[in-house]
Amino acid sequence: MKETISVIVPTYNEKDNIVPLVERISKALSGYNFEIVIVDDNSSDGTIDVANSLAAKYPVKLLVRRNEKGLATAVIHGIKNCSGKYVCVMDADLQHPPEILPDLVKAIENGADIAFASRYVPGGGVKDWGLVRRMISKGATKVSHVLLPSSRRVKDPMSGFFIFKRENVDPDKLKPIGYKIALEVLLIGHFEHVAEVPFIFEDRTAGKSKLRAKTQIDYLKHVFNLMARTGELAMFIKFIAVGLSGVIVNEGLYWLLTRYGGLADYDYWAVVIGIEASILTNFTLNDTFTFARRRAGKSFIGRLLKFNLTCVVGAGVQWGLFMLFTRVFGVYDLLSNFIGIVAGFLWNYFVNRNWTWK
Ligand code: GDD
Ligand code: MN
Repeated sequence: MKETISVIVPTYNEKDNIVPLVERISKALSGYNFEIVIVDDNSSDGTIDVANSLAAKYPVKLLVRRNEKGLATAVIHGIKNCSGKYVCVMDADLQHPPEILPDLVKAIENGADIAFASRYVPGGGVKDWGLVRRMISKGATKVSHVLLPSSRRVKDPMSGFFIFKRENVDPDKLKPIGYKIALEVLLIGHFEHVAEVPFIFEDRTAGKSKLRAKTQIDYLKHVFNLMARTGELAMFIKFIAVGLSGVIVNEGLYWLLTRYGGLADYDYWAVVIGIEASILTNFTLNDTFTFARRRAGKSFIGRLLKFNLTCVVGAGVQWGLFMLFTRVFGVYDLLSNFIGIVAGFLWNYFVNRNWTWK
């Protein structure tokens, strides 16, 4: 017996798209048990009537929300009110071609717990996007890949077209802000096996996009919120605390060596020893405290060398920025040094998080 697939489609004023959408989904999934759950936020263009009339001929279930709005929350409403073991989410505007659905289902049948239709794997892409839109999309993906390293399991966590096993997600734990429901599900659910199948993001031929400038801001808020909920933010704050402890080690050892250690005339060596000593204490604290849960499967020596190298390069970043800002831009030296310290710190954190303790 094949499992039932619930295809969840959020709609807002998509009257001209849903007839071809439902027809194409039904054709693509003929041979499977499926339902199409349309979650509409009280569209004013007649989408609701069209969806109702489709229900006579196709397995369409229409849910209308009268008091709430928003793409991601509409999808969650659909997840809570569908019956399939497999849940697929896609847009109504045909930018997500329904013909890809069998590939997504097969990925799950072949062992994936979640599968993304992806623009950024071989064979995938976008139709007719200008350079600016391409760059915004790539940039948004990079933000998520760096700030939320677990999203790296997928090359295109933004596609919005994906399928997963319902049992792997607790819908009550989903609290997205804005549009990126796929990112939310990927990071809050528990998925051992992840797959991607290519698709071409089509142009919209009817209706209008609901994307606005606020959507980008919401996205950043959402990423920050996910950092807090997945423990990324806690690691960041611990890393800051460890870094501050390193300043004490660094200064303290310098003081000891120059005052009592016979290095009064060799202060440049005292600096070097202070730096390396603080790198070592920082490493020990980060390894046993900040990233304690991320050590598995990585060798001690490897972590130590990576951390050391990253910090030395980080010091170079700080020095280079100091020179750039003071010499080239004529910025006040203490401010230039501060900019260098912040940049060096961010470098250290993100390279170590994404490499040393990835
Ligand atoms: N119920 C409901 N409520 N549906 C909505 C709402 C809402 O407030 N806003 C948008 N939708 C529906 C639209 O009707 C459409 O079916 C789908 O959500 C996507 O909306 P678009 O406005 O077409 O979004 P987009 O094309 O800019 O963005 C899509 O592509 C992005 C990739 O570039 C989405 O899939 C994004 O999640 C995706 O990241
Ligand atoms: Mn669209």
